[in-house]
Amino acid sequence: MLERTSESLIHQPDPVDAPWWRSAVIYQIYPRSFADSNGDGVGDLPAVTDRLPYLTALGVDAIWLSPFYVSPMADAGYDVTDYRDIDPLFGTLADADAMIARAHELGLRVIVDLVPNHTSNHHVWFEAALAAAPGSPERERYVFRDGKGPDGSEPPNNWKSNFGGSAWQRVDDGQWYLHLFDYHQPDLNWQNPEVRAEFHDIIRYWLDRGVDGFRVDVAHGLVKREGLPDFNGVNHDFGPEGDRLPTNTSPFWDQDGVHEIYAGWRTILDEYTAADPTHERMMCAEAWVQPAERMALYVRDDEFQQAFNFPFLATHWYADALHDVIELSLRSNDSVGAPTTWVLSNHDVVRHASRLGLPQDLPRPNGIGAADPQPDEALGLRRARAATTLMLALPGGAYLYQGEELGLPDSTELPDEVRQDPTFRFTKGVELGRDGCRVPIPWVKDAPSFGFGPSAEAWLPQPAAYGAYAVDQQDGVPGSTLELYRTLLRIRRERRLGNGGMEWLTGFDDDAVVALVNVAGSGERTTVVANLGATPVELPAEAGSVLVASGPLTEEGRLPTDTTVWLG
Ligand code: GLC
Repeated sequence: MLERTSESLIHQPDPVDAPWWRSAVIYQIYPRSFADSNGDGVGDLPAVTDRLPYLTALGVDAIWLSPFYVSPMADAGYDVTDYRDIDPLFGTLADADAMIARAHELGLRVIVDLVPNHTSNHHVWFEAALAAAPGSPERERYVFRDGKGPDGSEPPNNWKSNFGGSAWQRVDDGQWYLHLFDYHQPDLNWQNPEVRAEFHDIIRYWLDRGVDGFRVDVAHGLVKREGLPDFNGVNHDFGPEGDRLPTNTSPFWDQDGVHEIYAGWRTILDEYTAADPTHERMMCAEAWVQPAERMALYVRDDEFQQAFNFPFLATHWYADALHDVIELSLRSNDSVGAPTTWVLSNHDVVRHASRLGLPQDLPRPNGIGAADPQPDEALGLRRARAATTLMLALPGGAYLYQGEELGLPDSTELPDEVRQDPTFRFTKGVELGRDGCRVPIPWVKDAPSFGFGPSAEAWLPQPAAYGAYAVDQQDGVPGSTLELYRTLLRIRRERRLGNGGMEWLTGFDDDAVVALVNVAGSGERTTVVANLGATPVELPAEAGSVLVASGPLTEEGRLPTDTTVWLG
């Protein structure tokens, strides 16, 4: 097939034989909230297996499951005690095997979560570390230090936990251990070869069970700066605005030493791929890193295949900002030959249907409560549909978060006493945390727990408004968000948009438009116009007819505000 290259393209199309992950749409399953088979109110793996056909009908290529490992659940499973087994809440290893096998039968790949920055404080290693003396090999697997001050009663440095409070916890004999997250999540010492060897083994264990790859938690955090110097900046110094400090100004994020760890993992993945080239294994970095040049280092060809594009997720609903972040992302990833991996929602942020309904110029909150300014539900949904329609036309891969295909908003009604995110506790309620985006999703309007499971139980209460978003209310309904996603994913696949090249389309009167052409390797052109302005815009007649739109056009065939269309 003819490969088209053009000067006007800011991004070239992929070759025809590009690996699957360059263009894959991967659906994030948050197991405790996807579907529940036994009625205990917590989602589980047998229910995932049951509902996989829903995902093939949606049209995704793969699933990523947030952690399902044995865990005391201090951070919803991101505190692991056994990386090689399933927590009974979610099922058994046999259930995991059955889920992987069924997914593969249906043509879906399976990505599992790997949590290498920290273990649970109930992991055997940590229990052994507590039982052993300061300076022992058991303590060397974690980051133990003596405290400051005459009696060592001050923490070793001033680092703050991401969930609030000090990043240090004192143990009975007076030493302190580091936890960048909850104190139930002690940080591992990645300078210790034993830690490295253990994770090589865990990676092989899951590859041997047949998984297609890993989403790597806190991939930018494993290595800490030598000497653990004090840090007076803000932990979450991240944003697309370009005026903030590089992430690695902080001594615990994005240190150069992380890269050799990932090169080691990539060697293992490549070994499995070489043994079975039809089954290419990959890994995706969760790394909240800026600037873009530093981020690109994670997706060099001997490291991660993918890294979440969080600057895109964090961009507010402004045409110029979206234009710039799209261009910068494509250029920086292209500089190392990597695809760009788009994402708008996940289990750590306010869902985009709610986020985009908030006043534009306020900082994005970590959770929305009943007493906070409420998102405009209709506006948020309209913009979310337009944002997704733009995202799914961009070259590269994309991640969807369960429920976004229903246009689901966050719950903003959770009473404080049901909140489970440790952030809420450690910030003493200053930050509400992430429970609002983690509420079990609705499947059937007129069923207990909206069809999440066979009983009325749900580990977080579902707002009454979720009924209207249930799958059964949208299935087969023209114009529903579910049908929009199905259509987008079908056309994206038919036109190979994920593997396309891209050029900007200019010449609109209104500068509140983001317009581009996705140019397939075959030369087929798909024009994409998103109108973020207040007035309807004229569509370019030569671009072809409407393939799909995030909402109805005006009677005159113009594109209304907060609407995206594909033409071809
Ligand atoms: C990642 C996860 C988040 C978790 C944290 C600590 O950011 O996505 O849910 O709380 O790491 O493991």
